[in-house]
Amino acid sequence: MKLPSSTATNLNKSGLRHFLKTQDFTRAELTEILDLMKMLKDARRVNAVPPLFAGKTVGMIFEQPSTRTRVSFEAAATILGGHAQFLSPNDIHLGSKESLEDTGRVLSRMVDVIMARVDVHETVAGLAKEASVPVINGLCDWLHPTQMMADIFTMQEHLPEGKQLDDLKVAFIGDATNVSNELAMICTKFGMEYAHVGPKKYHMTEEIVGMVEDNCKEYGGSFVMTDDINAVKGFDILVADSFYWFGQEDEKEERLATFMPEYIVDQRLMDIAGPQAMFMHCLPANDKRETTREVMDGDSSLIFDEAENRLTAQMALLVYFTHQHTKPASEDVAASHKAKIDDFLNAL
Ligand code: CP
Repeated sequence: MKLPSSTATNLNKSGLRHFLKTQDFTRAELTEILDLMKMLKDARRVNAVPPLFAGKTVGMIFEQPSTRTRVSFEAAATILGGHAQFLSPNDIHLGSKESLEDTGRVLSRMVDVIMARVDVHETVAGLAKEASVPVINGLCDWLHPTQMMADIFTMQEHLPEGKQLDDLKVAFIGDATNVSNELAMICTKFGMEYAHVGPKKYHMTEEIVGMVEDNCKEYGGSFVMTDDINAVKGFDILVADSFYWFGQEDEKEERLATFMPEYIVDQRLMDIAGPQAMFMHCLPANDKRETTREVMDGDSSLIFDEAENRLTAQMALLVYFTHQHTKPASEDVAASHKAKIDDFLNAL
């Protein structure tokens, strides 16, 4: 029998989960991640985060620029006692010279978790196909699951008096983006009332609507898609996102003409929603396009808490997805290896 020569502790795929979309997880599992976020945020507040990622590495692939996702994963790995490795497509063979599946296999022999921000979902799915470590989707053209953990956590931190998550009414205004797709899925999974408000041409696809409908049936949420901005009346949270993203630059003029000025989340739209309405945006935001500086800096804005909670989410995700696969050796085993290596080195 050919014995495996690998030293990787994570080649056993049993129980392996990837975080490609929140829809792959139950509400109870997502709640576990939120609970872990709370504990880690509380610990960080007093510089008491345990070294739960010590000796571990997250390999981070970025096909697109990023401020929040990159910095939050790097900082999270450091705070937890581990390391983050930045890998741009200029540095590694990503789907050229080497298949995505082989890249996933090779990185799995060297790092403990892979995080990838990619142009198209197929790239992160291809990495995950043969990876034997968890693969985290750090944004693709379709979805943005790590952002959603930060968003739901931020909503939880700012719940109106007497309300639970499933009492919230959340409206997304604009195009069906990776953020809004994921938001629609997670809000309905947490039993909320969700509205997508934007021109009909830019509403959610049938595939996303199907998943949202499944969530409403299972978890009691509800959703509506409308082009009528007055639908935001009485909503607790208004969410905006850029009207165009990487790969949509050639649609920029058409998109801006379609969305502006009606769908800008400015003070006029916040007033339609009412005095209870809070504002969220994953950032980066464009002043005077999808929102305004006045709203971003206003008392109702949660955007910087939301940004900070990217770090809260990444700490929890690194721990949640690796703790079962990379447990440290017992003290006896560690001592015996140390003694053997020390004896060898002393004899040199
Ligand atoms: N919201 C978000 O993903 O930000 P970055 O593009 O800066 O990572």
